[in-house]
Amino acid sequence: MSKGIFITGTGTDVGKTYVTGLIVKKLRASGLNAGYYKPALSGAEWIDGELVPGDCQFVTHTAGLNIAPAKLTSYMYKTAVSPHLAAQLDRRPIEAETILADFSKFTRCHDYLTVEGCGGIICPLRLDDTVLIQTDVIKLLKLDLLIVAPSGLGAINSAVLTAHYAQSLGLTVKGFILNHYDRTNFLHQDNKKVITQLTKLPVVACVTSQAADLAIDTAVLCGLYKEV
Ligand SMILES: Nc1ncnc2c1ncn2[C@@H]1O[C@H](COP(=O)(O)OP(=O)(O)O)[C@@H](O)[C@H]1O
Ligand SMILES: [Mg+2]
Repeated sequence: MSKGIFITGTGTDVGKTYVTGLIVKKLRASGLNAGYYKPALSGAEWIDGELVPGDCQFVTHTAGLNIAPAKLTSYMYKTAVSPHLAAQLDRRPIEAETILADFSKFTRCHDYLTVEGCGGIICPLRLDDTVLIQTDVIKLLKLDLLIVAPSGLGAINSAVLTAHYAQSLGLTVKGFILNHYDRTNFLHQDNKKVITQLTKLPVVACVTSQAADLAIDTAVLCGLYKEV
């Protein structure tokens, strides 16, 4: 039996990878067989003649996963643009079937699989004669969502919009993780309260800048994962 969750965010650079690293680290520190999968990644870097997916590298390093980062993604592209465009430039289109097959392979190896998306909730993966949006992949993998959101000004709008949009497509949002949270900041405190008030969804954890651990009970964290 394997369980999974999909980590999305209110946009690019909000801390999906940082938070995912802490999530996988926490599960593994509790002795659980936790893994990571990134369906597609653009902006990979050439390092010593090898294309390295930065997100996968960050998570393997943070969570202590003993696997080559490139093995944790199905598609990686050099150009740091939306995956549909990066794939078009590389003439290597993203196939939903490949993502599903790789995902299934990872779920056979891990009890808790954390899947990190690209950008925000609406991220096009393919726009040629086939249209594939990230939300199609989330549905295909039958995963629920956790939304990583910023803590400061603008957080309410981006967090609530993301949750409502996902729900309008029939996806299940389990809650939010607020990043760069400062518990002494009254705006952050209020954003946390208002996001829950407007969505009726919990903020399951708040991550401070430079946090080395995720402040959440392991049983609560595990409870967010859904059998896949
Ligand atoms: N809580 C945090 N403390 C310190 N640095 C952070 C934190 N969250 C994100 N970062 C940094 O901000 C940048 C963007 O975060 P990242 O997790 O890569 O975003 P995303 O995956 O959403 O694109 C990275 O350099 C990351 O290390
Ligand atoms: Mg990322």
